Amino acid sequence: MSALARLLREIGLGEEALRKLSRANIRSLESLAFMSSRRLAEALGIDEPTAEGLIKRAREMIGLELMDLLEYLERNRMRFDIFTTGSHALDNLLGGGIPTHHLVELAGPFGSGKTQLCHQLCVTVQLPQSEGGLESGAVFIDADGTFRPERIIRIAKRFKLDGRSVLRRILYARVLSFAEQYSALVRSRKFLEKGIRLVVLDSLSGLVREEFGGDLIRRQEALARLLMEARSLAEGGASVVITNQVTVNMKTGELVPVGGLILPQAVDIRILLLKEKGDRREARIVHSVVLPEGKATFRILDGGIVDVE
Ligand SMILES: Nc1ncnc2c1ncn2[C@@H]1O[C@H](COP(=O)(O)OP(=O)(O)OP(=O)(O)O)[C@@H](O)[C@H]1O
Ligand SMILES: [Mg+2]
Repeated sequence: MSALARLLREIGLGEEALRKLSRANIRSLESLAFMSSRRLAEALGIDEPTAEGLIKRAREMIGLELMDLLEYLERNRMRFDIFTTGSHALDNLLGGGIPTHHLVELAGPFGSGKTQLCHQLCVTVQLPQSEGGLESGAVFIDADGTFRPERIIRIAKRFKLDGRSVLRRILYARVLSFAEQYSALVRSRKFLEKGIRLVVLDSLSGLVREEFGGDLIRRQEALARLLMEARSLAEGGASVVITNQVTVNMKTGELVPVGGLILPQAVDIRILLLKEKGDRREARIVHSVVLPEGKATFRILDGGIVDVE
């Protein structure tokens, strides 16, 4: 019996409660210990003080109250893999490439290269390990309708891969509503076991903004649901890459990714892509809990994203 099941049994809850938690993405004592009592109360249909007690007990059981730092490090040490973006400059900026087990946000204005980079990552993740890939497939959830298989074929050719085989290893879903987008994300989970290591959400917020318009609370709620699911895919071992639009801050003139406050908290690496002269682009890490801030330049050519010579 799992530790989580034991804890539930302690307070007289059984299998059904376990299933309810699993539906809310809570599958371990650790995730239970970190959730809010309100969410737990909702998920289990219990009152909030009972939920609080349950969380407290979970924290005790995993020894969260006091833990020496070495033990903490061992428990939280992430064993993640890295795959190349196909550009040395971008790889260096990212500390080697795109990491699995992480949520990466590509934000930027129209035409800055977000979708192009997503296309390319669906190819480079398939490269043999000797060439910086993970030899795995990808899921592409297209909310903008801008995915082009022809681009994949061009990019595959540049990496000397067979276009048709590369396309076969990309699972594609064109989604037209928030509900479809969320459901595609949930359904991606079962492909993790089948060797998918990259899940692309292009874009994260377009449909949510369209559907919920000025209703800020519902917008944030919808984004939070997508992000929670994305996080759970990352925890399951995928790189989750999301794209996002930007707006201009009227006071400072700065470009700011949309999505309010929850996004920067939810993503591990936020990259801002900017259009420079001609085919030149700049990528900047503007927020990350795992990497220093930095910049890199790249170009977009017919064969995809390349370094500036
Ligand atoms: N075959 C190609 N050869 C060279 N450059 C290309 C090619 N296809 C697209 N591009 C470049 O990519 C740009 C579009 O980039 P992309 O679609 O990734 O933008 P985006 O950041 O996703 O924008 P949006 O916010 O509209 O989704 C085009 O403006 C063009 O400069
Ligand atoms: Mg795009």
